[in-house]
Amino acid sequence: MQRVFIEDIARYEGQEVLLRGWLTNRRSKGKIHFLQLRDGTGFLQATALKGELAEAEFEEADHLPQETALEVRGLVRADPRAPGGYELVLRGLRVIARPSQEYPITPKEHGVDFLMDHRHLHLRHRRAWAALRVRDELERAIHDFFHQRGFVRFDAPILTPNAVEGTTDLFEVDLFDGEKAYLSQSGQLYAEAGALAFGKVYTFGPTFRAERSKTRRHLLEFWMVEPEVAFMTHEENLKLQEELVAYLVGRVLEEKKRELELLERDTRALEATAAGQFPRLTYTEAVERINQLAQTRPELGLAPLAWGEDFGAPHEAALSLEFDRPVFVEKYPAAVKAFYMQPDPQDPRLVLNDDLLAPEGAGEIIGGSERIHDPELLRRKIQEHGLPEAVFDWYLDLRRFGTVPHAGFGLGLERTVRWICGLEHIREAIPFPRMYTRMRP
Ligand code: 4AD
Ligand code: MG
Repeated sequence: MQRVFIEDIARYEGQEVLLRGWLTNRRSKGKIHFLQLRDGTGFLQATALKGELAEAEFEEADHLPQETALEVRGLVRADPRAPGGYELVLRGLRVIARPSQEYPITPKEHGVDFLMDHRHLHLRHRRAWAALRVRDELERAIHDFFHQRGFVRFDAPILTPNAVEGTTDLFEVDLFDGEKAYLSQSGQLYAEAGALAFGKVYTFGPTFRAERSKTRRHLLEFWMVEPEVAFMTHEENLKLQEELVAYLVGRVLEEKKRELELLERDTRALEATAAGQFPRLTYTEAVERINQLAQTRPELGLAPLAWGEDFGAPHEAALSLEFDRPVFVEKYPAAVKAFYMQPDPQDPRLVLNDDLLAPEGAGEIIGGSERIHDPELLRRKIQEHGLPEAVFDWYLDLRRFGTVPHAGFGLGLERTVRWICGLEHIREAIPFPRMYTRMRP
């Protein structure tokens, strides 16, 4: 008999098949027991009917504990009342492993902390399972997108001598003989070396920020994809971001329908996003818009902004609620941004950068910019930011030898998963979250 997986079950309607998996829940009406099964690829209801199964197996089916590992045989039947549209009429049941203790996560409601303490088991449950399958789809879609466009994947180191995104949130690591290194905040500086060697590259790996923040959007360890392209302009950079985000969302809509349904995701904003055509505001326009909102919609409780200040999370959220798809905010004041950003030739107080804010209040998912390619200007910025010049000497070499305009951006994977899945908190967007308030399991 053929062993099959739940995700393919529709293909076997009317046939007897073999499944291996686990019991997630059960109930009984006396002559019929309903067993909820999962096999990693999906969830399926199996029915044990008196007479269809051997007497002993029928009896046992009513006493199996949650998370018993099972091998079952049964007939695949279409049933519009069954969740998923199919059920399995059991003909045979064999226990592979019976739990040695009562399983801690029962079908009743549990608090978030309890679930996160049991994250190693929580992964088996529907919502966590669905969100992490969307994450997997996004990871594959990211590689497909860049490889289809001729990018080379270029791995940046995790132990690094320099800060990229400011020095306040670095994790320090003890090396040998008193020497220190830092966990990478971003692969960007290395990606720039890659872009000048390979033309178009992207890094994709874990990055670290020692932020003592307890928001729903911050992790200490998160994954970032960072493309970097030689000769790319600010305009082209925005176009690449729009194409990437539209493609990623389109892939999830196409390939992960079941998961989005399971997460009860309203997909209207996702459909708008997949169509591209993201609106754009300059930083200056965004400040005006926020101040308007602060005045006309006091219920939002927004603090008014002075030109030159950076946005807080509530500002970003309020802005992103104004649009049905992601919105670009471009050309921020240089003073609130990183040292490496190219000044705007129209207004040197500004830089050629952008943040992409996801809709529905989700906020920033991308930060990007054109990079300074003039060696003298870059050296000055490194000094102005109080960064140690010696460790950036290799980075300045990129401007000494055949320097060209170039640009890139970083998309945070977990922020993107959180928004696409409509998750309350970013901790659900990664298998084992690392946060200011959580380091276990
Ligand atoms: O805006 P950021 O800091 O930009 C950079 O790191 C640039 N070097 C990227 C580049 O141009 N190559 O971070 C980029 C993205 C953010 O938009 C956000 O999605 C994510 O990384 N991110 C975080 N995600 C989760 N937790 C955190 N603490 C994050 N910090 C940034
Ligand atoms: Mg940013």
